[in-house]
Amino acid sequence: MRGQLIEVPPGTGDEPDLGHHGDVEATPGLVDLAVNVRRDPMPDWLADPLTASLGGLAAYPDPGPARAAVAARHGRPPEEVLLTAGAAEGFVLLARALAGVRRPVVVHPQFTEPEAALRAAGHEVERVLLDPADDFRLDPARVPADADLVMIGNPTNPTSVLHPAADLAALARPGRVLVVDEAFADTTLAPGVAGEPESLAGRRDLPGLVVVRSLTKTWGLAGLRIGYLLGEAALLDRLAAVQPLWAVSTPALAAATACASPTAVAAERAIAARLAVDRDHLVARLSALPGVRVAARPASAFVLLHLAGANRVRETLRERGWAVRRGDTFPGLGPDWLRVAVRDPATSDAFTEVLAEILEA
Ligand SMILES: Cc1ncc(COP(=O)(O)O)c(C=O)c1O
Repeated sequence: MRGQLIEVPPGTGDEPDLGHHGDVEATPGLVDLAVNVRRDPMPDWLADPLTASLGGLAAYPDPGPARAAVAARHGRPPEEVLLTAGAAEGFVLLARALAGVRRPVVVHPQFTEPEAALRAAGHEVERVLLDPADDFRLDPARVPADADLVMIGNPTNPTSVLHPAADLAALARPGRVLVVDEAFADTTLAPGVAGEPESLAGRRDLPGLVVVRSLTKTWGLAGLRIGYLLGEAALLDRLAAVQPLWAVSTPALAAATACASPTAVAAERAIAARLAVDRDHLVARLSALPGVRVAARPASAFVLLHLAGANRVRETLRERGWAVRRGDTFPGLGPDWLRVAVRDPATSDAFTEVLAEILEA
């Protein structure tokens, strides 16, 4: 079985806590493997315009230049870009503007905010649960044909699975909004592919497609709140209509412009290449531990682990100074899963040594 469709009425008793996020696990003093935001120093090409933008804070923000820059990056007209206060705002706009959808479906395990936003806006959400035994592979046929809103992540948090673009494209059809959360697309890499493999950001031929992008992860801007949506102009107009005025601040717009430049895109590719090496190192270390299984073929800035009693192991890791992300708040996972951020090899070595000691005890 490749996937499973279950109906989950809102407010069911033993539901995972969709509002849980890794940042609450990364308390001060712990080594943070729970949050997937890069913490490297900000490059000058980003820091300089950000700092300069502070001189213009008396004026209301003008999204025009940032919108044009992001559009140029993705080969789209500016009308096909909507800047948002992080990807998270994008999910809320979608949930509110698409009040009329009858059968919204969320493909899990994935980031929980898309479903949380839908529920908060009063939608009854159905879930398609991808199967760990099948490496969380997407079979487009599992999504009900009459679903008029489908939300999926690529690469997916927390599984780190990168679905083939063709499988996602197969979900698009007239009468359906297909939302692909590409918050981590810039972390992916494939041999012989110059850009982001499997990204739909530049696809203008797929009806109802909305691609969600975040600039908060790779560029360490979680506190600034900046992201954007890409899609058909008429659909984005509906989303813009429910967005608060001036939702994206002037410094956030400056960051969006800088991060759309060729310099930024080249830097992202270099970061993704380094990340792939560091991820291979971490996966090799983890795979050598008895009882630990790395899920699927990780493609992003984190890996998902299966180990019996992971929740207890997580508590012990905390006592030993390490924060990892619990898996049991993601629909489709449970108490035997953990998500671990990819860090430099020395940190990964230290982490896996502590984990090995805990598992041996
Ligand atoms: C898959 C995914 N999408 C979107 C977001 C939200 O990103 P932003 O900070 O841009 O709101 C997150 C944050 O953790 C995420 O993991």
